[in-house]
Amino acid sequence: MAPYDVLGNIALVKFPKGTTMHEKKRFAVLFMQEHPRITTVLEKTGKIAGRLRTPTSRWLGGEKTKEALYAENGCVFRLEVDTCYFSPRLAEERKLIAGLVRKGERVLVLFGGVGPFAIVIAKKNKAKEVVSVELGKEPSRYALENVKRNKVVVDVVQGDVNRILPRFAKQGKVFDRIVMARPNLKATFLSSTLRVVKKGTRIHYYGFCHETELEDMQQALVREGKEKGKKLQIVGTKKAGDIGTRKYRYRIDLVVR
Ligand SMILES: C[S@@+](CC[C@H](N)C(=O)[O-])C[C@H]1O[C@@H](n2cnc3c(N)ncnc32)[C@H](O)[C@@H]1O
Repeated sequence: MAPYDVLGNIALVKFPKGTTMHEKKRFAVLFMQEHPRITTVLEKTGKIAGRLRTPTSRWLGGEKTKEALYAENGCVFRLEVDTCYFSPRLAEERKLIAGLVRKGERVLVLFGGVGPFAIVIAKKNKAKEVVSVELGKEPSRYALENVKRNKVVVDVVQGDVNRILPRFAKQGKVFDRIVMARPNLKATFLSSTLRVVKKGTRIHYYGFCHETELEDMQQALVREGKEKGKKLQIVGTKKAGDIGTRKYRYRIDLVVR
Protein backbone atom coordinates (compact mmCIF):
# COMPACT_ATOMS: atom_id res chain seq x y z
CA MET A 1 0.00 0.00 0.00
CA ALA A 2 1.42 3.37 -1.02
CA PRO A 3 1.76 5.85 1.90
CA TYR A 4 -0.91 8.54 1.92
CA ASP A 5 -2.31 11.49 3.90
CA VAL A 6 -6.00 12.17 4.14
CA LEU A 7 -7.19 15.78 4.27
CA GLY A 8 -10.96 15.49 4.60
CA ASN A 9 -12.27 14.82 1.11
CA ILE A 10 -8.80 14.50 -0.46
CA ALA A 11 -6.24 11.66 -0.29
CA LEU A 12 -2.66 12.60 -1.17
CA VAL A 13 -0.73 9.53 -2.21
CA LYS A 14 3.01 9.01 -2.61
CA PHE A 15 3.71 6.19 -5.07
CA PRO A 16 6.94 4.21 -5.23
CA LYS A 17 9.19 4.97 -8.22
CA GLY A 18 8.30 2.98 -11.30
CA THR A 19 4.51 2.93 -10.66
CA THR A 20 2.78 3.40 -14.03
CA MET A 21 0.07 5.99 -14.63
CA HIS A 22 -2.38 3.15 -15.31
CA GLU A 23 -1.61 1.62 -11.87
CA LYS A 24 -1.95 5.01 -10.15
CA LYS A 25 -5.36 5.71 -11.72
CA ARG A 26 -6.53 2.21 -10.87
CA PHE A 27 -5.36 2.72 -7.28
CA ALA A 28 -7.36 5.98 -7.15
CA VAL A 29 -10.57 4.29 -8.27
CA LEU A 30 -10.22 1.41 -5.80
CA PHE A 31 -9.24 3.80 -2.99
CA MET A 32 -12.39 5.89 -3.45
CA GLN A 33 -14.52 2.72 -3.53
CA GLU A 34 -13.02 1.60 -0.21
CA HIS A 35 -13.17 5.08 1.37
CA PRO A 36 -16.48 6.66 0.36
CA ARG A 37 -15.68 9.97 2.11
CA ILE A 38 -12.67 10.51 -0.16
CA THR A 39 -13.93 12.15 -3.32
CA THR A 40 -10.59 13.20 -4.83
CA VAL A 41 -7.28 11.35 -5.10
CA LEU A 42 -4.10 13.33 -5.80
CA GLU A 43 -0.56 12.11 -6.26
CA LYS A 44 2.21 13.88 -4.32
CA THR A 45 4.63 14.72 -7.10
CA GLY A 46 7.20 16.88 -5.35
CA LYS A 47 8.98 17.22 -2.06
CA ILE A 48 7.79 19.89 0.36
CA ALA A 49 10.10 22.75 -0.53
CA GLY A 50 10.71 26.50 -0.39
CA ARG A 51 9.81 29.02 2.29
CA LEU A 52 6.10 28.34 1.87
CA ARG A 53 6.61 24.57 2.36
CA THR A 54 3.99 23.59 -0.19
CA PRO A 55 3.83 20.21 -1.89
CA THR A 56 2.94 19.79 -5.54
CA SER A 57 0.34 17.32 -6.61
CA ARG A 58 -1.31 15.79 -9.66
CA TRP A 59 -4.98 14.87 -9.99
CA LEU A 60 -5.58 11.14 -10.42
CA GLY A 61 -9.29 10.58 -9.92
CA GLY A 62 -12.63 11.75 -8.54
CA GLU A 63 -13.76 15.36 -8.32
CA LYS A 64 -11.26 17.73 -9.99
CA THR A 65 -10.33 19.92 -7.06
CA LYS A 66 -7.33 20.62 -4.90
CA GLU A 67 -9.37 22.29 -2.18
CA ALA A 68 -9.75 20.21 0.96
CA LEU A 69 -12.24 20.56 3.80
CA TYR A 70 -10.73 18.93 6.85
CA ALA A 71 -12.06 18.54 10.39
CA GLU A 72 -9.99 18.15 13.54
CA ASN A 73 -10.25 18.99 17.26
CA GLY A 74 -13.81 20.23 16.79
CA CYS A 75 -12.74 22.71 14.09
CA VAL A 76 -12.99 22.76 10.29
CA PHE A 77 -10.33 24.00 7.89
CA ARG A 78 -10.49 24.75 4.19
CA LEU A 79 -7.26 24.89 2.21
CA GLU A 80 -5.78 24.38 -1.21
CA VAL A 81 -3.23 21.58 -1.00
CA ASP A 82 -0.79 23.02 -3.57
CA THR A 83 -0.59 26.53 -2.11
CA CYS A 84 -0.93 25.88 1.63
CA TYR A 85 1.19 23.77 3.94
CA PHE A 86 -0.97 21.71 6.25
CA SER A 87 -0.04 18.71 8.33
CA PRO A 88 -2.86 16.53 9.69
CA ARG A 89 -0.10 14.76 11.66
CA LEU A 90 0.11 17.80 13.97
CA ALA A 91 -3.50 17.38 15.14
CA GLU A 92 -2.44 15.84 18.47
CA GLU A 93 0.11 18.63 19.04
CA ARG A 94 -2.56 21.26 18.44
CA LYS A 95 -4.81 19.55 20.99
CA LEU A 96 -1.99 19.31 23.55
CA ILE A 97 -0.91 22.95 23.16
CA ALA A 98 -4.51 24.23 23.30
CA GLY A 99 -4.90 22.23 26.53
CA LEU A 100 -1.95 24.08 28.08
CA VAL A 101 -3.34 27.58 27.51
CA ARG A 102 -4.52 29.20 30.72
CA LYS A 103 -7.23 31.79 31.20
CA GLY A 104 -6.33 35.27 30.04
CA GLU A 105 -3.17 34.35 28.13
CA ARG A 106 -1.98 36.28 25.10
CA VAL A 107 -0.92 33.66 22.56
CA LEU A 108 1.18 34.15 19.45
CA VAL A 109 1.33 31.48 16.75
CA LEU A 110 4.21 31.88 14.32
CA PHE A 111 4.20 30.14 10.92
CA GLY A 112 0.45 29.90 11.33
CA GLY A 113 -0.46 28.48 7.92
CA VAL A 114 -4.23 28.31 7.35
CA GLY A 115 -4.76 28.86 11.09
CA PRO A 116 -5.01 25.41 12.67
CA PHE A 117 -3.00 26.02 15.87
CA ALA A 118 -4.50 29.46 16.44
CA ILE A 119 -8.08 28.34 15.77
CA VAL A 120 -7.89 25.20 17.94
CA ILE A 121 -6.49 27.39 20.74
CA ALA A 122 -9.11 30.12 20.27
CA LYS A 123 -11.91 27.53 20.23
CA LYS A 124 -11.04 26.65 23.85
CA ASN A 125 -12.12 30.16 24.80
CA LYS A 126 -9.41 30.64 27.42
CA ALA A 127 -6.94 32.98 25.71
CA LYS A 128 -7.45 36.72 25.93
CA GLU A 129 -5.84 37.22 22.54
CA VAL A 130 -4.65 34.88 19.76
CA VAL A 131 -2.45 36.18 16.95
CA SER A 132 -1.33 34.09 13.96
CA VAL A 133 1.53 35.20 11.68
CA GLU A 134 1.98 33.61 8.26
CA LEU A 135 4.10 34.61 5.28
CA GLY A 136 2.02 33.20 2.42
CA LYS A 137 -0.83 35.15 0.83
CA GLU A 138 -2.94 32.11 0.02
CA PRO A 139 -2.64 30.40 3.44
CA SER A 140 -3.39 33.77 5.08
CA ARG A 141 -6.51 34.18 2.95
CA TYR A 142 -7.68 30.71 3.99
CA ALA A 143 -6.76 31.46 7.62
CA LEU A 144 -9.16 34.44 7.59
CA GLU A 145 -11.88 32.27 6.04
CA ASN A 146 -11.24 29.50 8.59
CA VAL A 147 -11.43 31.95 11.50
CA LYS A 148 -14.92 32.98 10.33
CA ARG A 149 -15.94 29.40 9.60
CA ASN A 150 -15.08 28.35 13.17
CA LYS A 151 -16.62 31.47 14.74
CA VAL A 152 -13.53 32.37 16.76
CA VAL A 153 -11.52 35.55 17.23
CA VAL A 154 -7.96 35.36 15.87
CA ASP A 155 -5.87 38.23 14.58
CA VAL A 156 -4.40 36.93 11.28
CA VAL A 157 -1.28 38.84 10.24
CA GLN A 158 0.31 38.23 6.86
CA GLY A 159 4.05 38.72 6.62
CA ASP A 160 7.52 37.50 7.46
CA VAL A 161 7.99 36.74 11.14
CA ASN A 162 11.32 38.61 10.99
CA ARG A 163 9.53 41.77 9.85
CA ILE A 164 6.32 41.51 11.84
CA LEU A 165 7.84 40.78 15.28
CA PRO A 166 10.10 43.88 15.35
CA ARG A 167 6.94 45.87 14.53
CA PHE A 168 5.07 44.21 17.43
CA ALA A 169 8.05 44.96 19.70
CA LYS A 170 7.89 48.65 18.77
CA GLN A 171 4.20 48.63 19.72
CA GLY A 172 5.19 47.15 23.10
CA LYS A 173 3.43 43.84 22.47
CA VAL A 174 4.48 40.84 24.57
CA PHE A 175 2.97 37.37 24.74
CA ASP A 176 2.51 34.74 27.45
CA ARG A 177 2.84 31.80 25.07
CA ILE A 178 4.43 31.52 21.65
CA VAL A 179 4.00 28.54 19.34
CA MET A 180 6.82 28.22 16.83
CA ALA A 181 5.48 25.59 14.40
CA ARG A 182 8.62 26.18 12.36
CA PRO A 183 9.20 24.98 8.86
CA ASN A 184 12.15 22.59 8.49
CA LEU A 185 14.65 25.36 7.68
CA LYS A 186 18.01 26.29 9.21
CA ALA A 187 16.94 29.63 10.68
CA THR A 188 15.74 29.37 14.29
CA PHE A 189 13.77 32.69 14.12
CA LEU A 190 14.51 32.91 17.84
CA SER A 191 16.12 36.36 17.78
CA SER A 192 12.90 37.89 16.39
CA THR A 193 10.74 35.85 18.77
CA LEU A 194 12.71 37.01 21.81
CA ARG A 195 11.71 40.61 21.04
CA VAL A 196 8.13 39.92 22.13
CA VAL A 197 8.69 37.93 25.33
CA LYS A 198 8.73 38.79 29.05
CA LYS A 199 9.74 36.82 32.13
CA GLY A 200 7.57 33.71 32.27
CA THR A 201 6.75 33.55 28.53
CA ARG A 202 6.51 29.95 27.34
CA ILE A 203 7.84 29.10 23.90
CA HIS A 204 6.95 25.86 22.13
CA TYR A 205 9.77 25.48 19.62
CA TYR A 206 9.46 22.83 16.90
CA GLY A 207 12.82 21.73 15.53
CA PHE A 208 13.96 18.93 13.27
CA CYS A 209 17.05 16.76 13.73
CA HIS A 210 18.55 13.32 14.02
CA GLU A 211 18.18 11.94 17.53
CA THR A 212 21.94 12.14 18.05
CA GLU A 213 21.82 15.91 17.38
CA LEU A 214 19.06 16.74 19.87
CA GLU A 215 21.37 17.87 22.64
CA ASP A 216 23.24 20.19 20.24
CA MET A 217 19.94 21.71 19.12
CA GLN A 218 18.84 22.26 22.74
CA GLN A 219 22.15 23.83 23.73
CA ALA A 220 22.15 26.08 20.65
CA LEU A 221 18.74 27.50 21.62
CA VAL A 222 19.84 28.30 25.18
CA ARG A 223 23.08 29.83 23.81
CA GLU A 224 21.16 31.96 21.29
CA GLY A 225 18.92 33.19 24.10
CA LYS A 226 21.95 34.15 26.18
CA GLU A 227 23.46 36.06 23.26
CA LYS A 228 20.24 38.06 23.09
CA GLY A 229 20.30 38.70 26.83
CA LYS A 230 17.49 36.23 27.67
CA LYS A 231 17.78 33.30 30.05
CA LEU A 232 15.95 30.37 28.49
CA GLN A 233 15.19 27.26 30.50
CA ILE A 234 14.20 24.04 28.77
CA VAL A 235 11.26 22.62 30.72
CA GLY A 236 10.32 19.79 28.37
CA THR A 237 11.25 18.00 25.18
CA LYS A 238 9.11 15.53 23.27
CA LYS A 239 8.99 13.83 19.91
CA ALA A 240 6.19 15.31 17.83
CA GLY A 241 6.49 13.19 14.70
CA ASP A 242 9.12 11.42 12.65
CA ILE A 243 10.62 12.71 9.43
CA GLY A 244 13.08 9.94 8.53
CA THR A 245 15.23 7.19 9.98
CA ARG A 246 15.88 8.25 13.58
CA LYS A 247 15.08 11.84 12.55
CA TYR A 248 12.27 13.59 14.36
CA ARG A 249 10.26 16.74 14.72
CA TYR A 250 10.91 17.63 18.35
CA ARG A 251 8.96 20.05 20.47
CA ILE A 252 11.20 21.86 22.91
CA ASP A 253 9.35 23.80 25.60
CA LEU A 254 11.21 26.84 26.85
CA VAL A 255 10.47 29.33 29.60
CA VAL A 256 11.99 32.82 29.71
CA ARG A 257 13.49 33.32 33.18
C1 LIG B 1 5.55 23.92 9.12
S1 LIG B 1 4.36 25.03 8.37
C2 LIG B 1 3.27 25.26 9.70
C3 LIG B 1 1.84 25.22 9.27
C4 LIG B 1 0.78 25.17 10.34
N1 LIG B 1 1.17 25.84 11.56
C5 LIG B 1 0.26 23.78 10.62
O1 LIG B 1 0.14 23.40 11.80
O2 LIG B 1 -0.10 23.03 9.71
C6 LIG B 1 5.24 26.37 8.07
C7 LIG B 1 4.50 27.62 7.59
O3 LIG B 1 5.41 28.67 7.83
C8 LIG B 1 5.29 29.65 6.81
N2 LIG B 1 6.53 30.44 6.81
C9 LIG B 1 7.77 30.10 6.35
N3 LIG B 1 8.65 31.08 6.58
C10 LIG B 1 7.98 32.08 7.21
C11 LIG B 1 8.35 33.37 7.72
N4 LIG B 1 9.60 33.81 7.59
N5 LIG B 1 7.41 34.12 8.31
C12 LIG B 1 6.13 33.67 8.45
N6 LIG B 1 5.71 32.45 7.99
C13 LIG B 1 6.63 31.68 7.37
C14 LIG B 1 5.03 28.84 5.56
O4 LIG B 1 4.37 29.61 4.58
C15 LIG B 1 4.15 27.69 6.11
O5 LIG B 1 2.78 27.98 5.98
